[in-house]
Amino acid sequence: MDFSKIQKESMDKINSVDNLDQLEKLRLFYLGKKGIISQEMKTLGSLSIQERKEVGKNLNNLKELIQQEIQKQKISINSKALNKKIKEEKFDLSLPPRNFYNGKIHPISQTIEEVINIFSSMGFALEEGPDIESDFHNFTALNIPPDHPAREMQDTFYLSDSEKNEKLVLRTHTSPVQIRTMIQQKPPLKIIVPGRTYRCDSDSTHAPMFHQVEGLLVDKNSTMANLKGCLVDFLKIFFEVDKLEYRFRPSYFPFTEPSAEMDIAYSKIDGVLKIGEGNEWLEILGCGMVNPRVLNNCGINSKIFQGFAFGMGIERISMLKYGISDLRSFFETDLRWLKHYGFDPLHSSSKTGL
Ligand code: DAH
Repeated sequence: MDFSKIQKESMDKINSVDNLDQLEKLRLFYLGKKGIISQEMKTLGSLSIQERKEVGKNLNNLKELIQQEIQKQKISINSKALNKKIKEEKFDLSLPPRNFYNGKIHPISQTIEEVINIFSSMGFALEEGPDIESDFHNFTALNIPPDHPAREMQDTFYLSDSEKNEKLVLRTHTSPVQIRTMIQQKPPLKIIVPGRTYRCDSDSTHAPMFHQVEGLLVDKNSTMANLKGCLVDFLKIFFEVDKLEYRFRPSYFPFTEPSAEMDIAYSKIDGVLKIGEGNEWLEILGCGMVNPRVLNNCGINSKIFQGFAFGMGIERISMLKYGISDLRSFFETDLRWLKHYGFDPLHSSSKTGL
């Protein structure tokens, strides 16, 4: 074997290659299992000891040389490719930047947050309950027995739990959380419950899913006067008004006795709504003294304890405060709408200072 010839030839070939595929082919040709060097190694056995030493040494030197040269060429090919890429790549400074929008807080979330802030500053604790409720919590325990017309009043989505053979509903109001809390905790109680509610109803003023906030206070001596004071304070802070004309109208809810609906005055001048004063009335919430039957249903002695409750629609107070005219727009997930009516994070109503 002519070592110097093969050496020269291999170096020339390796140096003339300009891509990694060809380089790999050359590597196999010289150094692979069936490559020239391996073939030559196999013939060593037939040589004399002296020749074997000599040829073996030469073969190893050649092998090392070829390996080194291939490695060098590999680095050179890679760096040439990188330089070419860098040369060809250009920054196009004329491209417009990508639009970057901050997310917005949905008015419903914002309103719930404000309601929680105000009531917690009055000492109300926050409670929550499940959206899928038992018939017992949503109706029966609230003194709405099976054939009660109040069940018709609230068009209910019924579900059924086939395993337990129990009637389940999508809660039609947040009032069942009153029941859950009274069963689990001992009075005195002072809670608010914001959350989703569902009724089989849909038009410009009704959505099948909407939000309510419930309030419940149970102690030994709270009266309707306390209820009134609490609601008036809340509404003044929420609507950011010093003056609030209101009226309580007698009403009926099975879970309160007596029951009332609260209206607040408003006026509309040049299309602008002014809450708190004016010749028109807006129905804003339902309330009353907790019906002793409801207390008893939850294991609370109604001879010792009494209290008040109220419930209002979040969408309604949000629409009034923020001038949103169509209820459906809350749930249409239109980003342009959200950009306009939404809130920046950490926004808080100026008057609450919370
Ligand atoms: N649950 C009632 C409804 O959805 C609202 C309500 C009225 C809640 C009076 C109350 C209450 O807690 O006392 O229409």
